Amino acid sequence: MPQAYDLAGPLLRRLEPECAHEATLRALSMGLAGRARWRPDPILRVSRFGLDFPHPLGLAAGFDKDARVTEAMLALGFGFVEIGTVTPRPQTGNPRPRVFRLPADGALINRLGFNNKGLDVARARLSARQPGGIVGANIGRNKDSTDAVADYVAGFRALAPHADYITVNISSPNTPGLRDLQAVASLRPLLQALVEERARAKGATARRPLLLKLAPDLADADAVAAAQLALEVGLDGLIVSNTTIARPAGLAGPHAGEAGGLSGAPLMARATQLLGVIHRETADALPLIGVGGIASAADAYAKIRAGACLLQLYTALVYRGPGLVREIAEGLAGLLARDGYGSIEEARGQGAG
Ligand SMILES: Cc1cc2nc3c(=O)[nH]c(=O)nc-3n(C[C@H](O)[C@H](O)[C@H](O)COP(=O)(O)O)c2cc1C
Repeated sequence: MPQAYDLAGPLLRRLEPECAHEATLRALSMGLAGRARWRPDPILRVSRFGLDFPHPLGLAAGFDKDARVTEAMLALGFGFVEIGTVTPRPQTGNPRPRVFRLPADGALINRLGFNNKGLDVARARLSARQPGGIVGANIGRNKDSTDAVADYVAGFRALAPHADYITVNISSPNTPGLRDLQAVASLRPLLQALVEERARAKGATARRPLLLKLAPDLADADAVAAAQLALEVGLDGLIVSNTTIARPAGLAGPHAGEAGGLSGAPLMARATQLLGVIHRETADALPLIGVGGIASAADAYAKIRAGACLLQLYTALVYRGPGLVREIAEGLAGLLARDGYGSIEEARGQGAG
C-alpha cells in the first residue's frame, strides 16, 4: 500500500475531502490496500486494559465511523483501531461541505456532526469480524436525542460485547450541547450509568474497559476534574484529546475560518500539554491515550514523555498515507533506544514538567 499510495495519494488530495475519504474506504474494503510487511520492534509492546498492543499507535475515531475497514487498517500496521463515533440511530450529519483541508498547516477542519449508520450496522460488522487485532468502539448520542444517558447506555449495550474497549465521546464540537456533558454535574450520572450497565453485563463484557474522550478546549482545571471523576467512578482511562474549536495563531489555510473541529499539527501543543497536566494531577492513576497532531516519531515520543501509554492519529494519515505508521513506529523504537529506555513504559511520563 505505501507504494500504491505514492500514486493514489496526490490524486485523492485533488478530490473533495469527503469524496476522497469515501474512495479510500472503498479501496480499503475491497482489499486493495494490502498488508504491511514489517514487524514492530518488541520494545514498542504495550500491555494495558488487559490487552496486548504490538505497538502504541492506533487509528483515531472518525476515520472508520461504521466499522467498514477495521481489518484493512490493522493489516496496514496500526497497533489498534477505534471505530465510531456511532450513535443509536443512523444520522446524516451536517450539510456538505463539512470537511476542509488546510494543507499548509498539516490540519483539517471538520463539522461532520456524527454522520453514521447507527448501532445495528456497527454491531453487525463488529460481530462478524475475524478474530485478531484490537478494535475499540466510540459511542455518542443522536443530535435529536432527549436522553443522552440512555443513548450512551444503548451504545455500550450494543457494542461492548463485540469491541475490545468502549470510548465515551462527549467532546466532539459538532453536536450542539454535547460537550456540556463534560461538566462534572452532568458527567457523574452519565459515567455512573455506564459503569452500572457494565456491572450488569455477562462474561467479558462485564470487564470491558471504558474510556472517556476529552476536548482540548476545557480549562485545565475542568479537564482535571473530569479525570478525577472518571477515576472515582471506576473508568479505565482517558483519551486526550478530540479536535479543537480554537484557531491557533498563524493558520495559513484559506479555510481556517470554517466552523468545526481543528485537527492535525496545530493541535499538537495544546493536546500534549493537557495530557501532561492530567498525568501529573491524577498522579499517573489513569492510563492516558495521547492523540492530537501526531505526525512524526518525535511527536509520538513527546506524548509518551508527557504521560501517554498509547497513541492515536488521524489527520497526518490524510497527508502522509499509511507508510507513516511504520515510519513513526520505527522512529519511536529508535528514540527509546537512543535514550536508554527498554520499553514505552520506562519512558512514559519522563518528560512531564
Ligand atoms: C474528519 C474527522 C472526523 C472525526 N470524527 C470523530 C468522531 O466521530 N469521533 C471522535 O471521537 N473523534 C473524531 N475525530 C477526532 C479524532 O479522533 C482525533 O481526536 C483528532 O482528529 C485529533 O487527532 P489528529 O490530530 O491525529 O487528527 C475526527 C477527526 C477528523 C479529522
